[in-house]
Amino acid sequence: MKNLPGKIVVATRNRGKVREVAELASGLPIEFLTLADFEDVPDVVEDGLTFEDNALKKAREVFHHTHTATLADDSGLCVDALDGRPGVLSARYAGDDVPDYMRYMKILDEMEGVPHELRTAKFVCVLALITEDGEELLFRGECPGTITTRPIGSNGFGYDPIFLYEPTRLTFGQMDKAAKNAVSHRGKAMKLLIEELSIQSRVT
Ligand code: IMP
Repeated sequence: MKNLPGKIVVATRNRGKVREVAELASGLPIEFLTLADFEDVPDVVEDGLTFEDNALKKAREVFHHTHTATLADDSGLCVDALDGRPGVLSARYAGDDVPDYMRYMKILDEMEGVPHELRTAKFVCVLALITEDGEELLFRGECPGTITTRPIGSNGFGYDPIFLYEPTRLTFGQMDKAAKNAVSHRGKAMKLLIEELSIQSRVT
């Protein structure tokens, strides 16, 4: 990174997500904004083949519109026995407007009879940062785990109840937010981003 951005717009309308980023970066002289701080930012169609494609596409479109350093993310669950599905389709697996449980039940159905040792999977999160001068940086975090045979736990969101994190023998649906963030794909990608921003803040 050549210059530390003074402001970063996080490509989301979710204020909670931005608060989380701002808290992690609280020691840095950076102001975090959301899409709600700008007018008429178009919605981005996430039709890329990889998490990197989607995160970059989102970041580029928002950067183009706001002329401000932009951070965008894409994430999902990749299941080995399903050839990496749902992958980039994680948010839309089983249809657009269906509740989370229908998505994870679809996976459990598709994996009926698959033995424990072949139920390996990983969560992936890619963050794309475009700096004020148009430099593009990618940060990738992964978390390996195993797909359960039934949903367990009600914490978190999405596929958390069927994702067993082996070191704790708990699903993400059973772990509290702090415990999950410490080991999750998103936590790891965020850590890499914050490290890069911290290095840059010491240089400039
Ligand atoms: P995105 O908003 O395009 O990144 O969609 C990510 C989708 O992947 C979410 O809607 C969830 O279904 C799934 N996903 C990503 N991260 C997690 C996680 O930490 N727990 C559970 N599901 C997740």
